[in-house]
Amino acid sequence: MTDVFTVLANDHTEVKQMLTELEAGSAGASSASVHGEDALRLRKNMVEQLIIEESKHEAVEEEYFWPAVRELVTDGDRLADHAIEQEQAAKKVLNDLIGLDAGEAKFEELLANFITDGRAHIAFEENEVWPALRRVITDERAEKLGEKLEQGKKLAPTRPHPNTPPKPGILKAAGPAVAAADKVRDKITGRGQD
Ligand SMILES: [Fe+2]
Ligand SMILES: [Fe+2]
Repeated sequence: MTDVFTVLANDHTEVKQMLTELEAGSAGASSASVHGEDALRLRKNMVEQLIIEESKHEAVEEEYFWPAVRELVTDGDRLADHAIEQEQAAKKVLNDLIGLDAGEAKFEELLANFITDGRAHIAFEENEVWPALRRVITDERAEKLGEKLEQGKKLAPTRPHPNTPPKPGILKAAGPAVAAADKVRDKITGRGQD
C-alpha cells in the first residue's frame, strides 16, 4: 500500500522519532564536557538528516498534497494556507540551523523551537487535514497521490530554500535542478553521509 496517507505517515513517524531523540539529547548538549565532541557531532549529523528529510517531505507536500487538499476538501484552502505558513516558518529555522554547531546556544534554541513547532505542524496535518481528506478522496486517487509523492521525493531538494515561493509547479520546473545542486553540495561537504 502506497496511498498518500501511508507515505506521509511513514515520513512523519521517522521525523517524530528524530525529534524525540534530539529532545532527549538536548539536556547535555550545551555542555560538551558531559556529552563529548562525538556526541555533539552525532547531534549535528542527526539535525542534518532531519533537515534533508523535512525538506523533501515538505517539498512534495507543496507540489502534490496541498493542491489535492485545496481541490477536494471544502475547507481545503484554509487548511492548506495554515499548514504552508507553518512549513515556511519551519524552513527558515532549519535554514538557520545549517550554519550552526550542536551545543551552541543559538543552535539549541532554534532546535527546541523546531521540535515544538514541528510537532504542532504534524499534529495539525494528522488530526485536521488527513481526516478531512480521507472523507472525500477515492482509493484510486489516494493511491495515485501516494505514488506521486514517492516519485517526487527522489527529485526533491534536500535543503529548505525558505525564499522559494511554496507554490506547486516550482518543484516540477526548478526542483530537479535545485535538488541536483543540493546533492552536489551534500557530496562536497559530506552532509548526510554518516
Ligand atoms: Fe507539512
Ligand atoms: Fe507532513
